Amino acid sequence: MTDHYAVVGNPIAHSLSPRIHRAFAAQTGEDIRYEKQLVEKDGFAEFARNFFAAGGRGLNVTVPFKLDACEFADRLTERARAAGAVNTLAKQDDGSVLGDNTDGAGLVMDILHNLRWPIRDKKMLLVGAGGAARGALLPLLGEEPALVHIANRTVQKAEQLVAEFAGHGSQNGRGAQNSRGAQNGYGALSAGGLEVFPGSFDLVINASSASLGGELPPLPPEIIGPGCKAYDMVYGAEPTPFMRWARDRGAEVADGLGMLVGQAAESFALWRGVMPQVAPVLAQLRAELQEK
Ligand code: ATR
Repeated sequence: MTDHYAVVGNPIAHSLSPRIHRAFAAQTGEDIRYEKQLVEKDGFAEFARNFFAAGGRGLNVTVPFKLDACEFADRLTERARAAGAVNTLAKQDDGSVLGDNTDGAGLVMDILHNLRWPIRDKKMLLVGAGGAARGALLPLLGEEPALVHIANRTVQKAEQLVAEFAGHGSQNGRGAQNSRGAQNGYGALSAGGLEVFPGSFDLVINASSASLGGELPPLPPEIIGPGCKAYDMVYGAEPTPFMRWARDRGAEVADGLGMLVGQAAESFALWRGVMPQVAPVLAQLRAELQEK
């Protein structure tokens, strides 16, 4: 029997998720139907209830419903709880609905396996402290960077994230206490604004929404260390202002298209128990983006 999946958002017209999941299904031979669904801003819970009652197996959830999906889920994975947001719902055999967040894992998959940029023992800067940054933190910390410094326009939000995540995991006691940070068991975590930074970084990730408005967070050039890699979670046909800025200062750069395909692959694996290959789908989407 064909299993039914959908991506839910508002707006949703430009979502690439149906393309990606249909490509994964063709690649793995899984028998699924995957559609996009526009839902009214206050209509998520009703839609999801009806979808699962009608036999639907899973949903991807995008803006503005990730918090609604978190509330809707009967159970949450650890990474969804840490993110405080759900991008994947999966019907379980016992009839309950599991909420997961695959965004951060998709980012890590892209960085480690597509781009082959190392994270372990690296000094990392995360710019932004909103939903995108929060969703990425636990999977990033799991890769054991030496430091994650969170820099945000509104400093208190970065400090709040550090306070929350400082308690997460304590397997190995690596890393050192930072003056404005906290020992988290993975490495050091620290917070600040966009003016003063603890030196330069090996890896800079832009998780602020500045690129969406064609803007650039006002960052000093000294943050770009030797051999620095710079990642923007946003993607498009052209490099974002942040990518251009970092490239002009000598960094190797990437956009977030691979994260999009990576998070989809993690969702597909949760639903179907088989991990699809990301690289061919990413190459296809990249080629099409650049043709436009
Ligand atoms: P998202 O879910 O995409 O993370 P969000 O939760 O609204 O969206 O968070 C947006 C993030 O981008 C915030 O960290 C925001 O900074 P503030 O907390 O100070 O608002 C950051 N941001 C948005 N526009 C920015 C800009 N032009 N320069 C710097 N940071 C910006």
